[in-house]
Amino acid sequence: MHNNLGLLIKLQWMMLIALTVTVNGEYFKPFNVSYDHRALIIDGQRRMLVSAGIHYPRATPEMWPDLIAKSKEGGADVVQTYVFWSGHEPVRGQYNFEGRYDLVKFVKLVGESGLYLHLRIGPYVCAEWNFGGFPVWLRDIPGIVFRTENAPFKQEMQRFVKKIVDLMREEALFSWQGGPVIMLQIENEYGNIEDSYGQKGKDYVKWAANMAVGLGAGVPWVMCQQTDAPENIIDACNGYYCDGFRPNSNKKPVLWTENWDGWYTTWGGRLPHRPVEDLAFAVARFYQRGGSFQNYYMFFGGTNFGRTSGGPNYVTSYDYDAPIDEYGLLSQPKWGHLKDVHAAIKLCEPALVAADSAQYIKLGSMQEAHVYRGNGSICSAFLANIDEHKASTVQFLGQSYTLPPWSVSILPDCKNTVFNTAKVGAQTSVKVADIEALSAKHSSPKLLMIQKEEPFMSESWMTLKEPIGVWGDDNFTVQAILEHLNVTKDRSDYLWYITRVYVSDEDIAHWNENAVSPSLKIDSMRDVVRIFINGELIGSAQGDWVQVVRQVQFKQGYNDLLLLSETVGLQNYGAFLEKDGAGFKGQITLTGFKNGDVNLTHSPWTYQIGLKGEFMKIYATDNSDENLGWTKLTKEEVPSILSWYKTYFDSLGGKDPVVLDLGSMGKGQAWVNGHHIGRYWTLVAPKDGCQETCDYRGSYNSEKCNTNCGKPTQTLYHVPRSWLKPSHNLLVLFEETGGNPFKISAKTVSVGTVCSHVSEDYYPPVHMWSHPSYISGELSTDQMKPVMELHCDDGYTIASIDFASYGTPQGSCQTFSTGNCHAPTSSSILSKACEGKNSCKIEVSNSVFGDPCPRTVKTLAVKARCIRQPSSTSRYIGLSEL
Ligand code: GAL
Repeated sequence: MHNNLGLLIKLQWMMLIALTVTVNGEYFKPFNVSYDHRALIIDGQRRMLVSAGIHYPRATPEMWPDLIAKSKEGGADVVQTYVFWSGHEPVRGQYNFEGRYDLVKFVKLVGESGLYLHLRIGPYVCAEWNFGGFPVWLRDIPGIVFRTENAPFKQEMQRFVKKIVDLMREEALFSWQGGPVIMLQIENEYGNIEDSYGQKGKDYVKWAANMAVGLGAGVPWVMCQQTDAPENIIDACNGYYCDGFRPNSNKKPVLWTENWDGWYTTWGGRLPHRPVEDLAFAVARFYQRGGSFQNYYMFFGGTNFGRTSGGPNYVTSYDYDAPIDEYGLLSQPKWGHLKDVHAAIKLCEPALVAADSAQYIKLGSMQEAHVYRGNGSICSAFLANIDEHKASTVQFLGQSYTLPPWSVSILPDCKNTVFNTAKVGAQTSVKVADIEALSAKHSSPKLLMIQKEEPFMSESWMTLKEPIGVWGDDNFTVQAILEHLNVTKDRSDYLWYITRVYVSDEDIAHWNENAVSPSLKIDSMRDVVRIFINGELIGSAQGDWVQVVRQVQFKQGYNDLLLLSETVGLQNYGAFLEKDGAGFKGQITLTGFKNGDVNLTHSPWTYQIGLKGEFMKIYATDNSDENLGWTKLTKEEVPSILSWYKTYFDSLGGKDPVVLDLGSMGKGQAWVNGHHIGRYWTLVAPKDGCQETCDYRGSYNSEKCNTNCGKPTQTLYHVPRSWLKPSHNLLVLFEETGGNPFKISAKTVSVGTVCSHVSEDYYPPVHMWSHPSYISGELSTDQMKPVMELHCDDGYTIASIDFASYGTPQGSCQTFSTGNCHAPTSSSILSKACEGKNSCKIEVSNSVFGDPCPRTVKTLAVKARCIRQPSSTSRYIGLSEL
């Protein structure tokens, strides 16, 4: 057996080398991609594919290799991304393919890793991205109407799509050139809004399809959520479940472009979580019922850096509850359980691709089997129990199988269950944000260990007041309420609207006599407005086209009324995006004056775009202009509105992801070493609507398993390592409402605890079923035992086993306790196997622990602590010790 294993390892190495070697810039031997009703056909072979959604600008190029590697290790064959037009063409005709927008580099890295790529060009992408990915200048093209039969739009769209296709071809990135690009996408979920455009919408779909195909990319194109996609385009499904989906022609395969494995959130929203048992169920059901390509939206969600997040009001984090978290760490058990389901599906691939369709067997009222057969004995089956409440024992090909509620069992040989979607064998990881070091100093940087809640040294912050109202020569005055984006062109979130209001003696007398105050009424606004009178902030409002009525107080004579209008991510979904705009709609009036309402709509309004500090780039590292008026911040000056703050800090040691805890702040934006890390806002989620425990059973929706009620939606903001220097990092914040910068801290995030709970009747590791010694018959099914695997992140080792019990332990990760049955050797065996190691594996069986209670099914529960340390090799204890 040792020999076989050695051979296997050698074989794996050879395969790895074959995949990663690039000949003349080719990542693969050139291959064709086509499809039939069953699957994509890659180089002549039907394939069952798993795809990992990663949006390149939501990470840094330095993070890409690791994200791609973790996707591959998790069982992905493909990486899928949108193309972000607004990032690539910020100014019409001026292209940007640098840094986070280095698309070619990203595609090449995917190719180098041996994965394929699905490029969704759009160029409308939705994606909770600012303006759905459209550059904001697109609104200004005369006569333009987006996403319909409209010549100016079609011209711009075609130009950009062609640019991207040509770029891929020039860089030899298509499959037939030996590159990784196997599939493209045109438009995005247009079917959802098509009706709004009548016949023109239908014509546009045909045009978009022909235009795309006409670019000669030589690989298939998809349209998602597009039931009327033409014959030459594959229509694909998006959703939480797509197992019932059928494309609009029996010549097209069943593709799932977006499997929503979590969800996004808004400022002041709760944090959605999709249970992995349900996710794996959806995935298994998809392949069970004829699906052949499935993409996780998102496999890694990442961060909306800068002002890239869409709206209304989407937060800076795009974590998405994805299997790889916002910082690039594995989210467990999500990642591990999906890795297992992928491995199980891969074992079925020969049968799945051999059969043109499945044989359907009804096993019970809510239980069913789909059987796929190939030549000879090739046979794989999926047994599903779609009952949300009860487990069910079914008979299948003469054997009996117990299926937990809402689950699928996968039988690659039509006999042995290798995996069930509801039984999680993967470890759970608990992450900690360590405030272990951040010193804010102007000189002699030094690493400090600071305690939670301990503030920065008080002399560490500088401050600068942002002017209220006009600050630059470029202000202008017109007698109208202009639409916000028409003025800012989205060069800033902020736009000042300033006017003067005359208040007479009679008005004042009228208010005093009747004990009333006047009100400011704005018919409709989005996203945020702050109201200032004579330089004083008197109120704020937020919403998505909501009416605002605020009592105001004026003095006699002229009063300055200033409205600071703010966008918090432009609309990214819906028809007629070009008309949505921002700021104010309708009339702005003052009510309750002696002589009736005062309509300000046609008063002279002075406009000032953006913030002075923003336009002076005072956050840039090379902006050392201390004449700007920075002063040392004192505690007495906190809190204060519309203020800039800056400090310097030293980098945190190690390689762990770094976050800033901005929980003490209000709303604003932050920059580190000139990099815009995003908007921040400490809006608190509703107190209710969270679930203590989350039941994976039954259909998921984004309200089902929420956490974080009553807490700010986001307090931690990712600062990618590559944006940090060892010392003297410049942190600049613009704060609108008045937070406390003295309480800001930097933290590192890491997996502090890993837990696992595996039963002795759990399945052996999925990969064992393709092990040569199993295939050769040397190893029998009975000899293959379940294995518990614990794994600390790279650079970490297991410092201690905090809990271990083989027997009948109770509880979950943080609450494990021993039950009536407990093997006394549990802790010492685990400690010996795991402590000081980066990972360890233990067979879950009596042969390792002895039998503490015969005739009882035992489980092994373990909780281990990970600490940062040079790692040593991994260790395996059990039957096939390496
Ligand atoms: C889909 C859309 C994606 C993304 C997703 C929600 O409808 O195609 O781009 O917005 O919803 O995260």
